[in-house]
Amino acid sequence: MTERRVVALGSGSYLPEKILTNEELSKIVDTTDDWIRERTGIRKRHIAAEGEFTSHLAIKAAERALEASGLTGPDIDLIVLATTTPDNTFPATATRVQAALKTKGFAFDVQSVCSGFLYALSVADAFLARGQAKRALVIGAETYSRILDWTERETCVLFGDGAGAVVLEGREAVGAPTAASGEPGIFGTLLRSDGNFYDILYVDGGVSSTQTTGHLRMKGREVFRHAVEKLSSVGEDLLARHGLKGEDVDWIVPHQANSRIIDSTARRIGASMDKVILTVAEHGNTSAASVPLALDWGVRSGKIRKGDLLLLEAMGGGLSWGAALLRW
Ligand code: UT7
Repeated sequence: MTERRVVALGSGSYLPEKILTNEELSKIVDTTDDWIRERTGIRKRHIAAEGEFTSHLAIKAAERALEASGLTGPDIDLIVLATTTPDNTFPATATRVQAALKTKGFAFDVQSVCSGFLYALSVADAFLARGQAKRALVIGAETYSRILDWTERETCVLFGDGAGAVVLEGREAVGAPTAASGEPGIFGTLLRSDGNFYDILYVDGGVSSTQTTGHLRMKGREVFRHAVEKLSSVGEDLLARHGLKGEDVDWIVPHQANSRIIDSTARRIGASMDKVILTVAEHGNTSAASVPLALDWGVRSGKIRKGDLLLLEAMGGGLSWGAALLRW
């Protein structure tokens, strides 16, 4: 069967209104604005209001992505929503978005923590390439404020709430574009996981184990080390598969967890920091929402332009990680 070409049409994002600054956090736990900025690059994070759920954030981001693409809900026949903080244990939060936006076809969630958006993008790409759907909303949406231990300074200063979305379309053109052609579309994606590191970044509760929601726990220093190594290797591998190097990429759109991780990864890949979209200061680590949030900011700020070659990459709990290469 001939594969279709999968092209990105537009992006959108949403951050909740309430802002929590480092200064305000220093009144809740024993921390300082200086420590947080120096070690992570984060200045503030957004916190969902009472009664504001992951689906509400996702719907707002998706509406903006649809508007940017010149489409409405019924033009979409697939939603893949990446989240680790669903509204309910089931059904999938994606079905809430489907009902609100009146999209057609089918909708489901994927759960791969901070690399969730890369997994969702990869899944949607495969459905569209096979012609099982025509247009997809790929969303990353999270309310991490609900799973943080607000007494633990090692973790609660790092995360925030938010959502980002991208609209993809499968086209009749044959196969993925090549680097030389200059045509838009997804070149490829690369996913990895290693369950041997399950317990360096996890939530200490769950439906089957404790019947509680639990709180996020992380061995930060260990995760940091894996992040730099795994993000750079998956990025380099994907580029090499397409005969490319870091210097060929117009923009790296990385998971926004820590500016030091982003800096070290870009250096290893061989790209300078002025080719990296950096938004972590504005919203902290929003897990699956972080890559599409950064992507949308890059597009709306005019940095990312039509025809630019983008390398998206993320790593999170699992451990799981991945990258995607596309021409916008
Ligand atoms: O999204 C999934 C991926 N997640 C990540 O990528 C996060 C990866 N890890 C990190 O970003 C960093 O490891 C952290 C930002 C979490 C920590 O930075 P670090 O440079 O690795 O610091 P550290 O854990 O080695 O801690 C250094 C010191 C410790 O004190 P001592 O033992 O040196 O006295 C900590 O207790 O900083 C202390 N500390 C804090 N101090 C003030 C830890 N958290 C805080 C805090 N405020 N919030």
